[in-house]
Amino acid sequence: MSTFWHWYIIIITVATLAATIWFLLWTSRVRIPSTKDEHGNETTGHVWDEDLRELNNPLPRWWLGLFWITVAFSIVYLVLYPGLGRYQGLLGWSQEAQYEQEMEIARASFEERFGVYDTLALTELASDPQAIEMGRNLYAHNCSTCHGSDARGATGYPNLVDEHWIWGGNPGQIEQSVVQGRRAAMPPFGDALGEQGITRTAVYVQQLAGLEVDATMAAAGRQHYRQVCVACHGPEGKGNPVLGAPDLTAGIYTYGGDPETLRVTIRNGRNGVMPAQQGLIGETRARLAAAYILSLQPGYGRESNEQ
Ligand code: HEC
Ligand code: HEC
Repeated sequence: MSTFWHWYIIIITVATLAATIWFLLWTSRVRIPSTKDEHGNETTGHVWDEDLRELNNPLPRWWLGLFWITVAFSIVYLVLYPGLGRYQGLLGWSQEAQYEQEMEIARASFEERFGVYDTLALTELASDPQAIEMGRNLYAHNCSTCHGSDARGATGYPNLVDEHWIWGGNPGQIEQSVVQGRRAAMPPFGDALGEQGITRTAVYVQQLAGLEVDATMAAAGRQHYRQVCVACHGPEGKGNPVLGAPDLTAGIYTYGGDPETLRVTIRNGRNGVMPAQQGLIGETRARLAAAYILSLQPGYGRESNEQ
């Protein structure tokens, strides 16, 4: 803060306070000339609409008292707390210090509650009822907006409770998906294939998933597939968890398996992002949420599966 603003604030604040005090003193001293009317009320002599009179009663004492209390409060406050420019206040209180103090308390209680879980493997966490309970809460707050409150996913957001995984479903892979995040990169093929090529390839993708389709179209699509898709989705369409290229034979889709959606996927590509949780909620919490996901798989914490 430059010296100008320092003094600017001090002068305006102090002048306003002083003016208020002067005004209060002045109004309690000044006498407005008045006369008594026939009922014994003090009036200023102003009359409107024939019988409306302006009376001249002093302000109630409690009302004036309130003003004096606010003035006294402001002065005490400005002496104790920072309010006048750069002046720190006698108490030395500051927003930052209070924030730091509260964060420190929060951190300590967090360490106390969660710290023990840092040393446990994900499989151990997934069999620990308390850890699963915390993971469930963390999931509800940080993941359900995308993956759904039942973790069954939505268009564009994968289902986390079926046995179909894009990036792999073993504990290490799930942990990595959650803690470090994932970035899928399926490039667009609109230019390379043209609309006809896109349609044929889409038909072949449907055949890969076991649908009855036009055999000629599928055979033509297969040619395209062998040229451009095989590198990521594999010769049999089984996908590649390292690249996040999904298995196209399962008939389970993140974006959709109808002809139009398949064509959009092939034409424009897809770039799904799973945000890395370590930078958002911290590694300990991210691992607890991952453990909760693991616990939903067959063989873990079955009781939490039932709900
Ligand atoms: C902003 C939306 C969003 C949030 C929030 C989010 N995710 Fe995801 N997540 C995604 C997307 C999108 C993908 C798929 C990425 C891709 O296209 O491959 C994904 C993928 C995953 C995968 C890998 C799935 C697979 O089939 O391999 C796991 C596991 C996962 N998320 C768990 C979580 C957990 C646990 C949380 C909360 C801590 C979470 N996600 C929060 C969007 C989100
Ligand atoms: C460079 C690797 C790469 C190539 C080449 C590639 N894909 Fe993909 N594909 C991916 C990835 C990664 C995803 C996941 C995208 C996401 O989750 O956002 C994906 C997703 C898809 C999906 C969406 C599936 C769903 O769950 O909704 C379809 C369909 C698909 N690819 C078909 C194809 C076809 C057909 C070709 C060839 C024309 C092809 N891909 C070429 C990497 C590739």
